[in-house]
Amino acid sequence: MKNLLHEAQILLQQIATLNASHIIALRKVINNADASYYVHDNSILVDADYDALFVALKKLESENPSLITIDSPTQRVAKGLTNKFENVAHLVPMLSLENSYNATDLLAWDKKCKEACNLTKIEYCIEPKYDGASLSVIYDNNILTRGATRGNGVMGDDITNNIKQIKSIPLGAAFTKHGIQQVELRGEVVMTKKSFDYYNANLQTQGLPLLANARNAASGSLRLKDAAEVAKRNLHAILYHVSYVQYSTEAKPLETHFETLQLLQELGIKSSATEAKVFDSIEAIIEYCNTYELQRDELPFDIDGMVIKVNNYALQDAIGQTSHHPKWAIAFKFKARQATSKLLDIEYQVGRTGAVTPVAKIEPVAVGGVTVSSISVHNHENILAKDLRIGDTILIER
Ligand code: IVH
Repeated sequence: MKNLLHEAQILLQQIATLNASHIIALRKVINNADASYYVHDNSILVDADYDALFVALKKLESENPSLITIDSPTQRVAKGLTNKFENVAHLVPMLSLENSYNATDLLAWDKKCKEACNLTKIEYCIEPKYDGASLSVIYDNNILTRGATRGNGVMGDDITNNIKQIKSIPLGAAFTKHGIQQVELRGEVVMTKKSFDYYNANLQTQGLPLLANARNAASGSLRLKDAAEVAKRNLHAILYHVSYVQYSTEAKPLETHFETLQLLQELGIKSSATEAKVFDSIEAIIEYCNTYELQRDELPFDIDGMVIKVNNYALQDAIGQTSHHPKWAIAFKFKARQATSKLLDIEYQVGRTGAVTPVAKIEPVAVGGVTVSSISVHNHENILAKDLRIGDTILIER
C-alpha cells in the first residue's frame, strides 16, 4: 500500500503533463485505491487526489479512445436505462442452504459429514450469513462479463449494468495469474444499516412508504432501471462461493474454501474472508455461533445467521449435494428479529404518574427469542401518524 501511495504521488506531481503513456499507471493506481477503500476498509488517497487522477484518466481516454479498455475504472459510468432485464442461465444452479437452529442440529450434521468422508475429524469454515440479495458474477479471462440475480436458482436476471455500480466488485481481476480462465462467483449484495436508515429517512421526507429492512432495499436497488440511481444507494457485495471454475492446464487448483476467500480479497474482490474462521471441531463452531449472535449488532450490515462449510473441496465433493442444497454446508439461523402479526386492539393504560400509554394488543408472535403479544406505542400521535387500524398486518422488530 506504501507503493500505491508513492505511485499516486508521482502521477499527481505530473498531473498537468500526463500523456497516453500514463494511462495504464493511472488505472492501476485508481483500481488499487478502490480495492483498498471498498475491499480492505483502508482509505489511502484523499478524495481530491483520487478525483484528480480519475479526471486525468478520463481526459486521456477521451483523447485516445482506442486505448479504452472495458475494465477501465472509467467504464463504471452508468449509460442509459435498462428497460428489460434479460433472463440468463447460471453456469451452475444456485442451490439453497439447509437450516439449523441449535447445537443438536449441528452435531447431527457434523456426524453425517464425518460418516460420508469416513473421518473422525473435519475442518470447517464458518462465516456470517449475510442478509441481502444474492447474486452471481462471472469473470472471463479477468474481465467481469456478467452479473445476475438468483431468480429461480437456474435462471436469473442479467443485472450487469447495475452491479458495475458496486465498487467492491472490480471490473477486472487478475484470475489468470492463478490459472483461472473462467469463474462464476456467488455472493450477497447488502446495504449497510447506516445507508438503510438514511435511505428510509429520505423516503419518509418524501411521504413514501418505508422499506421493512436493508435486504428489501438491496434487492430493490439491484432491479432499478437507472444504473446511475444504483450508484447512489451505496451498496456492497460480499462474495462467498465459487460455483464454477475453469483452470488452465498448468494451474494448481484451489484446495480449500478459506484459501479461495483469501484469494478473492487479494484480487480486490470483497469476500467473506475477513469475517471467516476455520475450526477443526463442531463444538468450537457451536461456541463461535453463540458468541457471534451476541455480537451481530457490531457489524455494519445485517446478518441472519452463520454458514458453516466443510473447508476442503475434495471432502465437499465426497459429501455431495441434494437438488436443493449442498450437504457439505449448513446455515445456523439466529433468532429472527422481525415478524409480522395482526393488530387486535389498542388499549390505553394509565401509569402510576397518571400518564396514558397506548398499548397495541397483537396476535402473539415469536420474535428475537420471546413471544410478543402487546407493544406500548409511546404516544397517541404515533398511532395517528401510522394510521393504524384494528386488523392491520404489522411488522414488529426487536
Ligand atoms: S453459501 C452452494 N454462504 O443464504 C452454497 N450462502 O438461505 C451456496 N447466504 O442461498 C451458499 N450468506 O443466498 C453461502 N456466507 C454465505 C451466505 C449465503 C448468505 C445466502 C445464499 C443462500 C441463502 C440460503
